[in-house]
Amino acid sequence: LNRRGGPIGVFDSGVGGLTVLKTLRSALPAERFIYLGDTARVPYGTKSAASVVKYSLQCADALIVRGIRCLVVACNTASAFALDALRLRYPEIPIIGVIEPGAAAAVSASRTGHIAVIGTEGTIAGGAYQAAIHRLNGRARVTAQACSLFVAMAEEGWIDGPVAEAVARRYLEPIFGAGWGGAGRGAAVTAVIVPPTVLEPPQPAVPDTLVLGCTHFPVLHAAIRAVLPAHVRIVDSAATVASAVAGELALPAQPPDGGGVIWLATDGAARFARVSGIFLGTALRADEIEIIDL
Ligand code: DGL
Repeated sequence: LNRRGGPIGVFDSGVGGLTVLKTLRSALPAERFIYLGDTARVPYGTKSAASVVKYSLQCADALIVRGIRCLVVACNTASAFALDALRLRYPEIPIIGVIEPGAAAAVSASRTGHIAVIGTEGTIAGGAYQAAIHRLNGRARVTAQACSLFVAMAEEGWIDGPVAEAVARRYLEPIFGAGWGGAGRGAAVTAVIVPPTVLEPPQPAVPDTLVLGCTHFPVLHAAIRAVLPAHVRIVDSAATVASAVAGELALPAQPPDGGGVIWLATDGAARFARVSGIFLGTALRADEIEIIDL
């Protein structure tokens, strides 16, 4: 296959990666994209690393045979577990995950070096954000928290208002402290990882930056913002990955026929179309989505 001028492949475990695609399309409007949502096997966030690697390789295979010239792993969980395996299988294709760009944005946003990261169970337990942040700033302190319910809430469209804010408060209050409007229960488990090289000075107990380390979380921005102290900066990996892709594609090839997206999913075109509106702003039609087997 001649890949010059081929589309950019984007895959995710389902519909959440549309937040990344939306940002990519506005940053690179002349590009053609193929989006694949593995809706038959979503969520990846609660699966084992071995399953996420297997599914990610299958998603990549399906996009590679369609002639993509660059692969964006829009799913944070897949980026956390499968990036090395993907790069090993396809060394000739630029492969961009969302974790490195998100970590870089967080490190430049944080003034104190204490950064909070939220994501799926798998992303947080795997420690990929923590490692990526420490590679960029060995003195950073990272507080990481899985926020699994946010995924279902986003797909349900419960993205703001009292329910969304109550759940956001329940997850985030243990990190950012009571006394800023929370209910004070704080039952969530928080992993605090401090690199062994940090001697002094200790970073403040409350992070000044929060990384939204999951495709679904940008749509909950208003609810998350509402329960955070005002000084905390929110970093969205969807926004930062576009510039990483643009940098990677310093190629001459601008497709002559302008932009556009081919939509692929592994199950449920009707649900994909319905839920897509939450993440894209405008809902797709079910007949625009091709269902494929991996
Ligand atoms: N796309 C996933 C992520 O960004 C969230 C949904 C899932 O668990 O599959 O981690």
